[in-house]
Amino acid sequence: MATIKTIGVLTGGGDCPGLNAVIRAVTKSAIFDYGLNVIGIQDGFLGLIENHMEPLASNDVSNILTQGGTILGSCNKANPAAFVVYENGQRKVIDVTDRVLRHIKERQIDALVCIGGDGTMSGAAGLIAHGVTCVGVPKTIDNDLEGCDQTFGFDTAVQIATEALDRVHTTAASHHRVMVVELMGRNAGWITLAAGLASGSDVVLIPEIHYSLDAIIKVCQGRLKHGKRFTIIAVSEGAKPQEGEQVVARMDQDSPDPVKLGGIAHVLAQQIEKTSGLETRSVVLGHVQRGGTPSAADRILGTIYGSHALDSLMNGSVNTVSVLQGGKLTSIPIQRVANKQRLVPRDGQLIRAARAVGTSFGEAE
Ligand code: F6P
Repeated sequence: MATIKTIGVLTGGGDCPGLNAVIRAVTKSAIFDYGLNVIGIQDGFLGLIENHMEPLASNDVSNILTQGGTILGSCNKANPAAFVVYENGQRKVIDVTDRVLRHIKERQIDALVCIGGDGTMSGAAGLIAHGVTCVGVPKTIDNDLEGCDQTFGFDTAVQIATEALDRVHTTAASHHRVMVVELMGRNAGWITLAAGLASGSDVVLIPEIHYSLDAIIKVCQGRLKHGKRFTIIAVSEGAKPQEGEQVVARMDQDSPDPVKLGGIAHVLAQQIEKTSGLETRSVVLGHVQRGGTPSAADRILGTIYGSHALDSLMNGSVNTVSVLQGGKLTSIPIQRVANKQRLVPRDGQLIRAARAVGTSFGEAE
């Protein structure tokens, strides 16, 4: 492998709290530990495609640890191998890998640090196949990266979701209502399960366990019988009824992840009220879960991942992504995580603990 003198850093996919902690760790470690030059690539792979990048000095990453979002900008629509362009109103999907390789060469970038989720790792895997040296850092509030026990961003999202559920709790109790709170996570229920457990939600609906409307109503009515005149339901945007489909907010054909989930809380609230007569309201937390200051845990995890990725790169463990497995930091091949999703195991400890304290998953008996 050629000597590494200059690295490029990019943040791809949906933003998440802790991205700046990683950028800071990667940049500082590169400059101070390894004497490298660092180039900040703007808006994920789009910056490589359009040649938008600037050198990053250690001063540029001062005072960013506590900031949400990413100072580099992000984009979840720019895969070099399948880039969408519009020419004379016509949509075309083209491979712009050659352009990316040219820009990497022109800027004398010897290796890329790709901070992102499964989509970004898939983009990185495509470049690795063309001889580009990469390392990955596992980002996503969804916590669904294959082979990784915890991505950074997840802790903050769970904290925000838990606070929302706690706040909904008191208004639900005051008005004797059923409250349905929709949380993010795509096809994985990690955020909803963790926040549901932390907030003591009565019903937790996740994509991995298909629900029955009758079973949910039974829980609400059972609580009523025991003098509990309200019910809190935490529902994943990707949750699915036993017979029926996920609720899709919109399709975005230009995105590598075209199905945008959302809207289930409203649908479910209406069904519960109509079928049971119980007054029901819905809340959709949305992008609030991704914004703002990262938790202390995510700042720490982001810093650990960033410095580990740099060590991996400089110690020859290239084309890998840094992950936590069983509490230990290690590196696994980027190809292994590209375009894969880690779902909640139905017999895992979190589900068992939730069941032990009486949480319903809305399953039919
Ligand atoms: O992957 C992170 C995430 O926030 C998902 O939980 C959610 O489904 C999706 O991104 C929303 O995407 P967008 O930012 O395109 O609305």
